[in-house]
Amino acid sequence: MKTHHTSEQGSKSIFQRAQEALNKHDDIVEMILEDHKPLKELIKVMKDSDRSLDERANAFAEFAPLLICHAKPEEQSLYIYMKNDEDLREEGFEGDVEHALADQLVEEIMRTDDPDLWGARVKVLAELVEHHIQEEEDELLPDFKKHSEVKDRRNIGVTFLALKTKLLEKGGEETPHEDNLGDEDTRTH
Ligand SMILES: [Fe+2]
Ligand SMILES: [Fe+2]
Repeated sequence: MKTHHTSEQGSKSIFQRAQEALNKHDDIVEMILEDHKPLKELIKVMKDSDRSLDERANAFAEFAPLLICHAKPEEQSLYIYMKNDEDLREEGFEGDVEHALADQLVEEIMRTDDPDLWGARVKVLAELVEHHIQEEEDELLPDFKKHSEVKDRRNIGVTFLALKTKLLEKGGEETPHEDNLGDEDTRTH
């Protein structure tokens, strides 16, 4: 499928923009907020059933690898830290579960030929991830900030960026596993 640029900066790929934006930050909270922006842009298109299927399919084609490039590093840096903290543990696990649901749905969408079912699944995926991102921004990240120090947030940021860079270089085509990306413990206290 041809790639359609949904952004105003059409000459740069969404992957290049994601990488450039991340390099501006050294705190994991800022990095994640920045990283959510292109996903939100694509979600708007994917969930809009007034748009043509072609437009939504192009948005999904960009969204699926970009989601992997966000979610896997997030799981393996921020969520790992949270699951090791008594006060943040539950939210970290909830994040993992929501990511797994989105992964399942992405796989189902890729196997769906019927256009009506495809449209319905893409809309549900868009709404699921939109809700997840909103919850992260409104609850998870503020809670994490309360229970972490600047040096923790920077260390986790370094891990996140390293994992993400690796994935972006592959265009999000490969799902990383903890064993081949190293399982650095991001906790510093
Ligand atoms: Fe997440
Ligand atoms: Fe996120």
